[in-house]
Amino acid sequence: MKVIILKSVLLLLMHYQVLGQNSLPELRQEGETYTFYVDGKPFIILGAQLWNSSAWPGITDQFWDQTDTLGCNTIEAPIYWQNIEPEEGVFNFEELDNLILSARERGLRLVLLWFGSYKNGRSQYAPPWVLENPDKYPRMKNANGEDIYVLSAVSQANREADRKAFVKVMERIREVDADDQTVIMVQVENEPGSMWTDRDYSPDANKLFNGPIPDVLQSKLKLSGSWSDAFGVNAPEAFNAYFIATYIDDIARAGREIYNLPMYANVWIRENAFQRPGEYPSGGPTSNMIDVWKASASHLDLLALDCYHGNPEIFKSLCDTYDRPDNALFIPEMGNGNSFARFQFYAIGNYNAIGVAPYGIDPYHVDPHDKRNRESLDDRFDGIAKNYELLNGAINPIASLQREGRLVAIGEEEGMSEQLVRMEHYDVLFKFGFPTYKDRSERTGRALIGQLSDDKFLLMGFDCKFMFRPGYGSGFRSAEYILVEEGYFEGDKWIRKRIWNGDALYHSTLPAEGAILKIKLRRVEMTDDVKVKANFDKN
Ligand code: DGJ
Repeated sequence: MKVIILKSVLLLLMHYQVLGQNSLPELRQEGETYTFYVDGKPFIILGAQLWNSSAWPGITDQFWDQTDTLGCNTIEAPIYWQNIEPEEGVFNFEELDNLILSARERGLRLVLLWFGSYKNGRSQYAPPWVLENPDKYPRMKNANGEDIYVLSAVSQANREADRKAFVKVMERIREVDADDQTVIMVQVENEPGSMWTDRDYSPDANKLFNGPIPDVLQSKLKLSGSWSDAFGVNAPEAFNAYFIATYIDDIARAGREIYNLPMYANVWIRENAFQRPGEYPSGGPTSNMIDVWKASASHLDLLALDCYHGNPEIFKSLCDTYDRPDNALFIPEMGNGNSFARFQFYAIGNYNAIGVAPYGIDPYHVDPHDKRNRESLDDRFDGIAKNYELLNGAINPIASLQREGRLVAIGEEEGMSEQLVRMEHYDVLFKFGFPTYKDRSERTGRALIGQLSDDKFLLMGFDCKFMFRPGYGSGFRSAEYILVEEGYFEGDKWIRKRIWNGDALYHSTLPAEGAILKIKLRRVEMTDDVKVKANFDKN
């Protein structure tokens, strides 16, 4: 009898563990795209990142209403090593707990940003007992042999101290959150690398730099010899990249052994100014170091892109660089305003992003020049709030369209009055500005169009006119609207609000406040003559 009871308890425990494991948030690669699963369902982070000094209860309490107005589904919030382990081995989780509980109360998910050894290419979030003791916790040295404000990544003492603290953090998250899974992902460090030097020139680092490149780079990147043989002029940067990547990977690995949440590192991009390492954090997962990071940091799910470039071509080319078969695109930091509202669409529609988030959502930046409105959500976030309102319910269909490669984004960039998209069987023309004399300086036109089946489309967006024609040379000459429904999704369920017809289809314009349409078409063969008379899309 005892044995039977014991077996049942064991089975129950195993079942519980398996269920627990299965339901942890997870990034899955499906073909060449990635889907992020939360609660076993596709999830796209429609996020917002807090200012660096805002993840404190007295501050967060003041802006939760504004995050409601933004309509984000996830908050990205820093947690600070200096606050979590103020004295060696003494841990404080008060603020972490508060963050988790308050986000949970509001139905928000959390991406926690571990500000540990590296923050924007410096080490200012390490606790005093680390920063004040460089003999035990050594700094990187610059080429003149001077200590800089960056912890050395070749030091085992630094690595261990950070890892121990991070393990405690993951234990705490598991303890207070495993049942609810408010925390869905963890960023390990923040924009790592070293400012002011291309590499660590400490004696230990020099010794390693004068040796051969590590085996893993030899085997995975098919390189050999010294750092200079393998990487030429980029050798110092590659050296830093390898040691910082393995440092972070080791911390992530130890944390995941405790509680296996997806983890990532984010990048301060090099695509600025003269692009010299040290003027941006050298050794971070920059575009020229992705391969080194991928070879060295297998416990990170992805390398995330922070992007404030307001130029659409630069934005798109960076998305292209970080959206790779071995890397899912996630943009945990981006700018705000109408351009970034459009860019969110490009990231999700054209690069299968698993998440996007503007930086600095709350109005509590400590900067006398920051004149943002503290009473309500600042209007520079209006476009993004509209995006979130429109897309939040439609995450399931968007994620399936991403997976099937049937989603495209368009947006109104400067000097553009229209944009043509070629889908299977159909060409879709978008026009910006209806009526055309309207001032278009706001450039609010943006849409996601997904092909649900041969003749069915899902169209989501704002402020643009749309027209369909069968593909040129397909034998069909015109497209008829069979049924155009406006509605929204609840999970996978489509809820119809109304049918568009008559003038609504004559103008066929997504309104400024946004709409989601399901469009059913029929391809028609007609003679040219008839087409000229009957074509409803000639305006
Ligand atoms: C990028 C960093 O990752 C953030 O923590 C913050 O410092 C922003 N820059 C400020 O613009």
